[in-house]
Amino acid sequence: MAQVVVRLYRPDDAPAAVAFFGEAAGLDPTLQAVTPDGWDQYCNMSFNAGARDFAIAERDGALAGVLMSYGGVWQDAAFRHFRIVVHPHHRRQGVGTRLLRLVEAQDDPPTTRLQSNLIGTWTAGQAFARKECFRIVRSQIFMTRVGPAPDAVPVPEGFTLRAYRGPEDDADWTRLTLEGYGGTPDFSGITQDDLDSYRSGQGFGLCFAERDGDVCGLCHTMDWQDEGPCINSVVVTAKARGCGLGKALTAAGMRAALGDEGTKISLNVVSDNEPALAIYRGLGFETTDESVTWQKPR
Ligand SMILES: CC(C)(COP(=O)(O)OP(=O)(O)OC[C@H]1O[C@@H](n2cnc3c(N)ncnc32)[C@H](O)[C@@H]1OP(=O)(O)O)[C@@H](O)C(=O)NCCC(=O)NCCS
Repeated sequence: MAQVVVRLYRPDDAPAAVAFFGEAAGLDPTLQAVTPDGWDQYCNMSFNAGARDFAIAERDGALAGVLMSYGGVWQDAAFRHFRIVVHPHHRRQGVGTRLLRLVEAQDDPPTTRLQSNLIGTWTAGQAFARKECFRIVRSQIFMTRVGPAPDAVPVPEGFTLRAYRGPEDDADWTRLTLEGYGGTPDFSGITQDDLDSYRSGQGFGLCFAERDGDVCGLCHTMDWQDEGPCINSVVVTAKARGCGLGKALTAAGMRAALGDEGTKISLNVVSDNEPALAIYRGLGFETTDESVTWQKPR
């Protein structure tokens, strides 16, 4: 039986780790290769603390698995977030399990929960997590629409749409964001700094709906890294729901974001948000991927 040795990651493992991900992605198309710079940047992101808690599994001297792991605090509770990748040639030999045992021992006292984000195509990862008694706490769908801007959708009677006017609208922007997203488990609040940064960011677009002078809906769009425009938020206040305002607002936001030239727009949405999904599907968005958060309370 081949011997598996687990040890902490060292900075001089970087070239071998990059080669590992490249090879693994060549054999398993659901994985992604990394560049040396991309790996270095990832290891040095503040939460990863220079890959301090990362680990390597070797099987008979060959690099068989990599653990990426960091601890954090959310709503006053400590958690540990991790990802394990086992080389396709070394799977089903207990390597993933050995790395998970290390994750479990990384905090003293133990954190309240362990968690991992698994993309939908990682079927082995889902089976592994299920066997280890993790459960799904949340899932998000990534959607994209390719094509010219949609036709305008008629605004329901009694409502008008208008563009953001400037800081005088910030109180309404904050109020609607809290109403729309305040209850989601990973919502961490919205500050004036957040609004200022959105406003000065690439591709900023914000459209409001009003009825009798009351702001009762919004659609906020922005550019997402190099991916082009995305819909960041759509909110309709409880009293104004159910009459088609969300669809009219979303279409208006898309038209402004795409203009005459744009062809691709994306978004992500919590997967049980049926009203939002109906709007997005109705406007031509299609699901491209899913990310599922698994957790194990301790
Ligand atoms: C998920 C992954 C890390 C598992 O690594 P591994 O070393 O093969 O896992 P182990 O050998 O320790 O498997 C432990 C148990 O998990 C379950 N399991 C693992 N892979 C499975 C698969 N392909 N199908 C069904 N069950 C599976 C089994 O119950 C297995 O026990 P068994 O082999 O005795 O039946 C590996 O497949 C991988 O790297 N996948 C891509 C990345 C990923 O999904 N990472 C998620 C973990 S954060």
